[in-house]
Amino acid sequence: MPVRKIVTFGHPVLHRAAFPVREIDDEILDLARDMVLTMHAAPGIGLAAPQVAAGKRLITVDLSVGEKPDELIVLINPEFLETDGEAISEEGCLSVPGVHENVKRPARVLVKGIDLKGKEKVIEARGILARVFCHEIDHINGRLFIEHLSPLKKALVKKNLKKTQESGGGE
Ligand code: NI
Repeated sequence: MPVRKIVTFGHPVLHRAAFPVREIDDEILDLARDMVLTMHAAPGIGLAAPQVAAGKRLITVDLSVGEKPDELIVLINPEFLETDGEAISEEGCLSVPGVHENVKRPARVLVKGIDLKGKEKVIEARGILARVFCHEIDHINGRLFIEHLSPLKKALVKKNLKKTQESGGGE
């Protein structure tokens, strides 16, 4: 079952920090492969391991959604080296279905991580790519994009999400 189930708001793995990856073993390679397939199938432009119920610091990003193989980024233990500026744009999340809200993010980021061969990578990103990195690194820190909303808006979104889930529509 290479395409894994995406867990949604309220699942505990989404709401706690993920563990650093210590070794690139078969489990991590399988997880990374499945995450890419799951992200493309969704379809989505980014996915973090907690979204497939794996509490590991691993993210996948692909703005081309499978169209351009060189645009696929798989990063282990990603972290910010620099963040600059501000940009506001609409975001959504496969784990928060039906919610799209404006979120303020850095306009530019410099991200460091390790690829699947164990090689260190430093990636500079602006615009949508910077936003996706911020969103996915938030995920591995146990944070959903709705945490960035104003307290009032956040309360409203959470109430609606709970209602959807109770009525069985939040799968
Ligand atoms: Ni997300």
